[in-house]
Amino acid sequence: MENKRIYIFDTTLRDGEQVPGCQLNTVEKIQVAKALEELGVDVIEAGFPISSPGDFNSVVEISKAVTWPTICALSRAVQKDIDCAAESLKYAKHKRIHTGIGTSDSHIKYKFNSTREEIIERAVRAVTYARNLVDEVEFYAEDAGRTDNEFLARVVEAVIKAGATVVNIPDTTGYCLPAEYGAKIKYLVDHVDGIDKAIISTHCHNDLGMATANTMAGLLNGARQCEVTINGVGERAGNTALEEIAMILKCHSDVPLETNINTTKITPVSRMVSSLMNMPVQANKAIVGRNAFAHSSGIHQDGVLKEASTYEIINPKDVGIDDSSIILTARSGHAALKYRLEVLGIKMSDEKLDNFYQKFLKLADQKKSITDDDLLLLAGAEHAEEAHVKLDYLQVTSGRGLQPVASIGLDIAGEKFEAAAKGNGPVDAAINALKGIIKRHMTIKEFTIQNITKGSDDVGKVHMQVEHDGHVYFGFGADTDIVTASVEAYIDCINKFKKA
Ligand code: KIV
Ligand code: ZN
Repeated sequence: MENKRIYIFDTTLRDGEQVPGCQLNTVEKIQVAKALEELGVDVIEAGFPISSPGDFNSVVEISKAVTWPTICALSRAVQKDIDCAAESLKYAKHKRIHTGIGTSDSHIKYKFNSTREEIIERAVRAVTYARNLVDEVEFYAEDAGRTDNEFLARVVEAVIKAGATVVNIPDTTGYCLPAEYGAKIKYLVDHVDGIDKAIISTHCHNDLGMATANTMAGLLNGARQCEVTINGVGERAGNTALEEIAMILKCHSDVPLETNINTTKITPVSRMVSSLMNMPVQANKAIVGRNAFAHSSGIHQDGVLKEASTYEIINPKDVGIDDSSIILTARSGHAALKYRLEVLGIKMSDEKLDNFYQKFLKLADQKKSITDDDLLLLAGAEHAEEAHVKLDYLQVTSGRGLQPVASIGLDIAGEKFEAAAKGNGPVDAAINALKGIIKRHMTIKEFTIQNITKGSDDVGKVHMQVEHDGHVYFGFGADTDIVTASVEAYIDCINKFKKA
């Protein structure tokens, strides 16, 4: 029997990018969109254009930059949203508007203060309107996971009659059990007149850790499209991870379904997204976690050395892990660095590479060997150079029996400033010194320090949330010196102040 093709709808740039602290600028979004195109996704949800001029602009620019995947723009079931979505898609070679409304009793009552009949009317009106503007219209029944199946079938039937070409059945709150979600899709297949005129799509959230299982249940019961994100990023606990679905379908030859994903691109895209979004991937994350292919127990190591398939169901090469990877050190040359950056999905002009190589050498002098994570952080730090506020120098004295003291030098739009301060620890002293120059009311709400691998020579990563003027800003810094990394994270927040 021939395999059925499953369409991969990637929403990293919409549902994924909605996550606080994960925002990308247009240039970064284009970089991700192009990587998704190379990965082989069928549809890229590029944004929610009515939500901000930045989102609108990103959809426009991604539409210009990407050739074959369909570009999709999100809207509510509201005319002005749909007009804005259509306008943002004007340069897309293949375009789709994704419109919809909440269908669960909870959404109908509390969000819309409406009735089931009125919700059907609004859904039909939105789809009809959108179909006059573009050929492909996807309808989402928000909170379908908690919507009663009989009513859901009526909504789906009505929107297909109105011209919806794809019907999305989101488990918005991540509540469904796999069998329940699968049965919901089957119910629609069996009870909706005209269901063969549309593609059914899954869109599962991971609040109870069941997003991938639910998506698989949906696909096994008749859905032909699944909505996913790289690394499973997304609202709250995230969305179904693209790499998990792609690899499940690749590994299970007993499941007659297939995707167009070039799985060897999975690891570079995963790392690129993690680095651009400053969103670390948990070490034991399936497929793309640092430990996903690491065998630590003696019994497993022995088995894998004798025959990899004893403990490995996936060949690491199939997801783009190159186990002959070169360990970079201060003695590595340009070519090795360029090769490793390319494996990680980072392309640089020769001129930029020369500059980057000097920074690499500086770090390699501080550390024995440079890991992929170090390179990604170093590449991320390049953006900081275009920032308004930059750290020129930082000197801190601290230790047992000493009152910590810091002196700091900042470059603010080309002007130099210096200050010194004491604190109850080295980070506190450094931040107090910085506040002596930037005299704004700011409060640290969250502050986490993480090292990447092991070892006292490791790079420390700092994530920080700073409240200023009623807004919370997310900042990130990385350095072998954790006090410097903390100050860099604080400055990263400050550089975002005026953009909010
Ligand atoms: O989770 C959800 O319901 C959504 C819709 C907007 C598609 O993201
Ligand atoms: Zn969602």
